[in-house]
Amino acid sequence: MKTALTILLAFAALEPFSLSARADELADKGREISQTHCSRCHVIGDYNPFGGVSSTPSFQLVVNKLADWEERFSTFYTRRPHPAIIRIEGTPAPVDEPMVVPIEFKLEDVDAIVAFARTLKKQD
Ligand code: HEC
Repeated sequence: MKTALTILLAFAALEPFSLSARADELADKGREISQTHCSRCHVIGDYNPFGGVSSTPSFQLVVNKLADWEERFSTFYTRRPHPAIIRIEGTPAPVDEPMVVPIEFKLEDVDAIVAFARTLKKQD
């Protein structure tokens, strides 16, 4: 019994670390997705400072200047121009004949992108 309790306590002590490790993992996945699929139009942190399309907001601008950035990132695939290029798995195509084959995303990919975007937030 005492051993079980000790093990339990050890895990309880470890939990905060494993939680933040998981958050890091999620953010890493989001960084990878963003660099692959979003950097064509968006400047993403220090990955492509001179890249992107100049009329498109950089990720760090959205995260640091807009109070509702998290909401915007969580729903980006419904906001123009993204429905034409990104589709969430299991949802119908937003247009009948898209000009390009949309990139298919899972909802958990969106969580990963939000976790990554959070890492671009400057500490106040
Ligand atoms: C084909 C170009 C293009 C690609 C690729 C693209 N975006 Fe965008 N994105 C835009 C443009 C243009 C805007 C500005 C829209 C506006 O201001 O109306 C924008 C705006 C945003 C915004 C702010 C949303 C808002 O309504 O304020 C977020 C968040 C965003 N994009 C996330 C992403 C993510 C995440 C990806 C990759 C998975 C991505 N974008 C890929 C062109 C693109």
